Amino acid sequence: MIPSTQKEYPSLGRRLFLYIGGLFCLYPILRFITHKTPRVPVVIEVHEPLNSAGFLLKDRFIIFSRMGKTWAVSRTCTHLGCTLNYKEKEDWLECPCHQSRFSTSGSVLQGPAKKPLIRYPAEKNPEHPFITVIT
Ligand code: FES
Repeated sequence: MIPSTQKEYPSLGRRLFLYIGGLFCLYPILRFITHKTPRVPVVIEVHEPLNSAGFLLKDRFIIFSRMGKTWAVSRTCTHLGCTLNYKEKEDWLECPCHQSRFSTSGSVLQGPAKKPLIRYPAEKNPEHPFITVIT
């Protein structure tokens, strides 16, 4: 009979086998949880002209064209997802929900949002009368 102070523990080999087996079982679960489906880029042709101030508001993004450069930034606030408004006089994007502010390049000027806006490649082609935005 074994005294109560000397319990029988699994041997080191058996414990190692259980740890490694556990890791093999966890791997597919971790792969499933962390898997991200690659996003397919969507090309949007905007056939409207920019206004005289050099911007055009669309539903999901705003296009700017200044000093020979054209770019687009998302209008979705990085805080909780409200749609941003462009304040032309101040030249920034402002969130109507919690008043985060973003520059026209998408960087955060004022919180509570912490992440910058998504910036999309945009191209103004002189041969075509439209702007291409890749979202
Ligand atoms: S959703 Fe825009 S600041 Fe909160």
